[in-house]
Amino acid sequence: MKILAIETSCDDTGIAILEYDKTCRPKILADLVSSQIKVHAPWGGVVPMLAKREHQLNLVPLFKQALKKAGMLTFVCHSERSEESRGSGLPAKALAAAGATRVTDSSPEFTPHPDAGAQNDKIKILYKILDREPELLKKLLPFLKKYQKPDIDYLAVTTGPGLEPALWVGVNFARALSYFWNIPIIPVNHIEGHIAANFIPSDKISGMTNDKLLMTKKLPTICLVVSGGHTQLILVKKLGHYKIVGETRDDAAGEAFDKVAKMLNLGYPGGPTIAATAAKFKIENLKFKIKELPRPMLNSGDFDFSFSGLKTAVLYILQKMTPAQIKRSTSAIAAEFQQAVIDVLSAKALSAAKKYEAKTIILAGGVAANQALRDNLSLAADRLSLNFFVPPINLCVDNAAMIALAAYWQLAQKHATKINWRTLKANANLRIS
Ligand code: KG4
Ligand code: ZN
Repeated sequence: MKILAIETSCDDTGIAILEYDKTCRPKILADLVSSQIKVHAPWGGVVPMLAKREHQLNLVPLFKQALKKAGMLTFVCHSERSEESRGSGLPAKALAAAGATRVTDSSPEFTPHPDAGAQNDKIKILYKILDREPELLKKLLPFLKKYQKPDIDYLAVTTGPGLEPALWVGVNFARALSYFWNIPIIPVNHIEGHIAANFIPSDKISGMTNDKLLMTKKLPTICLVVSGGHTQLILVKKLGHYKIVGETRDDAAGEAFDKVAKMLNLGYPGGPTIAATAAKFKIENLKFKIKELPRPMLNSGDFDFSFSGLKTAVLYILQKMTPAQIKRSTSAIAAEFQQAVIDVLSAKALSAAKKYEAKTIILAGGVAANQALRDNLSLAADRLSLNFFVPPINLCVDNAAMIALAAYWQLAQKHATKINWRTLKANANLRIS
């Protein structure tokens, strides 16, 4: 069984292919990400319409590369003309007749197929599906003409939460492939994907089967999902069943990292630059030690967060300083800000774990790449004899392997929703519970 996953919820375009055998042991055949950091960096944050444009340009080349890596990229050749009538190849004349004049392709022309009329109709529908993604259509049509339907059983795609224009590119790409090749789609919640990233099989760790994964002694689990768009504490009593027990009331933790980095002129994305700058701060350099920042909602008695006030506290400190003082204190501010975020995240995750008698704490999302947070939470979990899981750093940020694995969980749990391409929608505000 093979799942091809698509991730375009924010500023990373991801394609992954996961295979699982009869023993239910998943294996990643390809996992590719095309980052848009360079495109958004000059703007100091993700620009949704630029993300949409980049996803349109990146998807087909990445898709092709992933199929190649998985050994699944096969040309439609003349001797396989019959494939065309089964819907996996496209006669060039049919493309032209359907109005595909914008498409340029250097591959040899196909002679018209007797079934060209049906093909014309198929292409017309592709035009409709990708009506709002013309750049993607332009790249997809020649691809479909050139290559055969790969041996894929399911398409998995992030349908939300995320940036609406970015999500739709992936969703419509999945819809087009699903329609054209007749492959069912499994919609995946991006947050579930981040949680699943903890269990992506790597070369070192072979894929864990479902029951070894979380079903046995590891539940209930408290998942702290911290990214550029989300900060949530999620209780998992049973795999696939999620309950948000706390979340941010304003900015997400990653968003706060990005905004504070912008104030300190550290560039985008802010998480890695703040972390690197904070690491330079020497605690003995007391000369530039700054006033302690607040730990918002630390004692609020619930599991909610608020990072907007912390960001403003940094702004007030900067407003009182000269440029020279700011320069000398940048690492001190970065270190204190990072520590304030870590203190609140860790304290709330631990008290939620205590309240819900969790056996495990799972850390996930882009901010989980923060080494100081990983170390802090890992130590704290250890002190309470809790299991602690965090993905390898490269799998904390957005990728499609985590989407493939979340879809596989759904299939393994037998609660996968297989959606028709006609009804699939993106939902920027999708909730996990
Ligand atoms: O999960 P992700 O790739 O995208 C969203 O779903 O939002 O997370 C991106 C966020 C950004 O805000 C980025 O600054 C933050 O993760 N991030 C970090 C680190 N690496 C990435 N935050 C703190 N420390 C890091 N090392
Ligand atoms: Zn994410």
